[in-house]
Parts: sequence; C-alpha cells; structure tokens
Amino acid sequence: MAEKILVTGGAGYIGSHTSVVLQEAGYEVLIIDNLSNARADVPHRIAGISGIQPAFIKADLCNEKDLDYCFDRHPDIAGVIHFAAYKSVGESSAFPLKYYHNNLAGTINLLKAMQQANCRNLVFSSSCTVYGQPDQLPVSEEAPLKEAFSPYGNTKRICEEIIRDQAGASSLQAIALRYFNPIGAHHSAQIGELPVGIPNNLVPYLTQTAAGKRESLKVFGRDYNTHDGTGIRDYIHVVDLAEAHLEAIRRLLEQKNKEAFEVFNLGTGTGYSVLDIINTFEKVSGVRVRHEFTDRRAGDIESVWADPSKANRYLGWKARLGLEEMLRSAWAWEQLLGS
Ligand code: NAD
Ligand code: WQD
Repeated sequence: MAEKILVTGGAGYIGSHTSVVLQEAGYEVLIIDNLSNARADVPHRIAGISGIQPAFIKADLCNEKDLDYCFDRHPDIAGVIHFAAYKSVGESSAFPLKYYHNNLAGTINLLKAMQQANCRNLVFSSSCTVYGQPDQLPVSEEAPLKEAFSPYGNTKRICEEIIRDQAGASSLQAIALRYFNPIGAHHSAQIGELPVGIPNNLVPYLTQTAAGKRESLKVFGRDYNTHDGTGIRDYIHVVDLAEAHLEAIRRLLEQKNKEAFEVFNLGTGTGYSVLDIINTFEKVSGVRVRHEFTDRRAGDIESVWADPSKANRYLGWKARLGLEEMLRSAWAWEQLLGS
C-alpha cells in the first residue's frame, strides 16, 4: 500500500510541485492548507497533472483542533513535509507578530500533533536566508548562521532550532532543507507561483513587466562587487526543489538518516546576477524587459550561492534544470496565469 505523506501548505507554490512529484513516485498525498496564499483549485490542478486527486483538508496549523482532526482522520500518515508559513520578507518587518505567530505556532502545533499521533518523520522548509551574507562562497551547511535581517528569516532559524531540540528529545527524525532562490513552474504551466499584489521577488516582477502588467523592472543596485555590479543568487527550478523533498522524505522513511536532525542546502551551485537573469529571459522569450537601475534594496546581500555537495551525496539528488528552462517555464506560467 502507498505510504501517506501529509503536505502542509501543499496548495502553495513549492508544496503543489512537491505533491505532484510525490504522487508520481507512488506516495499518497494529503494536503492541508488554509488557502491564505493559494487558490482553492490547486488540488484539482495537481490532479490534472498527475491523474490522481490528492486528499485535501482546509485547515489552519495555528488551530490545534484542525490538526487533531487531520491526524484523527488519517492515523496512517507516514511522514510530513511542512511548507505552511508566511514568506514575505518585507511584510514580516511591518507585521512581525503575524509572522512569529503563524510560522512558530503553526510549527509547534504540528510537532505536538505528530508526537501525539506517533508520526516521527518530518521535512521542513528552511531558507538560505539563515546564512545572511556568508563569509565564504559557495556556502556549505557548516557556515555559521548570521543574525536574521527580517522577522521572517528569524522564524526559519527559530523553527530549525525548535525542530532540532524536539528531535533530540523524542523519536522525531527531521530534515531541514535550506532553499536558495526557487523560480520557474511546472512544465504543464498548470501550477506555479501566485504572487499577491506587487511582487517582491525578481522573477515574478520580471515576468509581469514582460507581460505589460508592470511598467519597468527596478534593478536594485549596480555597484556590487560582482562581474556586472548587480546582485548574485543561486536560482533553482522549483521542480528540482520538489524532487529533493522526495529524496529527503524517502531518506527518513527508509531510516537512512545519520542523525535525528539533518540539514541540507538546495541550490544548483551556480550564481547568476540580476542582469544575467534579464538577458537570459530576453533570449528565451524573445521579449524585451524594460528596466532601470535604482539604489540597493535595504537588507539585500551582495552574493550568495550554494555548495550543494552534501545534498548531492546523501540525498542522491542534483539539480538538473538550467537557467533557460527555469525562465522559459516562468514565462509560460505568467502567460497562462489566471486561465
Ligand atoms: P506559498 O505561500 O506559496 O505556500 C505556503 C502555503 O502555506 C500557502 O498555500 C498558504 O496558504 C499556506 N499556509 C500559510 N500559513 C498556513 C497555516 N497557518 N495553516 C495552513 N496553511 C498555511 O510559499 P512557498 O513559496 O511555496 O514556500 C513554501 C515554504 O518554503 C515556506 O515555508 C517558505 O517560507 C519556504 N521558502 C520559500 C522560499 C521561496 O522563495 N519561495 C525560499 C525559501 C524558503
Ligand atoms: C533576487 C535578486 C535583488 C527584485 C528572497 C528572500 C529569501 C528567500 C528567497 C524565502 C536580488 C534583485 C529583486 C526586483 C531586483 N525566500 N531584485 N529587482 O532577496 O535573494 O531572497 O526570496 O525564504 O529569504 O529574502 O530574492 O528575488 O527578491 O531578489 O533587482 O524587483 O534580484 O536585489 O539581488 P532574495 P529576490
């Protein structure tokens, strides 16, 4: 019988892609999501791709009763992949309590419910934001964590610590995955990122500019110490990221993990600048992107890219899709958005 995986936040951007990958690998997927940042039709879209309708419960992790209901109805959950969180860096600085409450209380409630249900396998969505501007590049998991610039970033660091402590004190086995910059969409263009309002992140802003929804893309800073003066990041295709989650949950289910709490970087290992992104996008789409240079954005770091060798070695996973494919799929999704 297929093992059942609970995907919190499974109607969201990364969770929906991971749900498809899990189903394609033969797992049964149960999604819980409060739809605070997702469309209600995402489970149907997932079914449209995989041919299998995932179970879906509209539930809020901040409500302990919602979680009790999920675990009571599904006592056979073999593992949990925990995506559900708020993720806007800027909003978290304006409304820190909203972020601390949702991201911390949601995680604590989940851990309590898992313990009660005797469910011991957890994969957690962390972020490269925990490294700040690393002293050495590429950044490995050994790099010291830096003080968070935003309440959002702090929630990722604190959640890692909470999960690590709980794994040290109980039968919980957990893997925290530190994502670099996820972009792109499923090749079907049926699921992708749904930015609400004006996008904060580069690629959704860029595709909206190319689509004529925004006047011009602002390039934040051209005086960084990089090959063209613009900031460098490690962009990773969301489908590659989803596949790493499959390997991480498998590692736990097959008890191949070496420690009760493990951490892996998920990136390609290659950094691209903002201008590299614009130029590659123009090449693959044939569409010019109006852009202008402005001051640096407060809190931005200059450069970061991953050393993904630990994930390559222990998860048996490697990012496969290149920048052109990432941007081509992001553009296809933008053009079909809303349909
Ligand atoms: P997303 O907003 O698309 O998905 C998160 C989902 O969680 C949404 O569908 C939302 O409705 C749901 N949710 C939020 N709070 C909830 C709650 N209390 N109860 C139930 N559902 C809730 O975000 P995403 O980009 O898919 O990110 C997924 C995870 O990965 C998040 O934890 C995020 O912090 C982390 N992450 C994202 C990025 C990125 O750039 N997208 C980078 C690093 C880490
Ligand atoms: C990328 C590059 C900008 C927008 C954020 C979070 C991080 C993680 C991923 C969750 C930078 C430049 C951007 C624009 C620009 N999320 N840029 N014009 O800041 O690396 O990471 O998302 O964990 O925590 O901080 O991503 O896409 O915003 O920026 O020039 O309109 O593009 O300065 O160099 P970032 P981003």
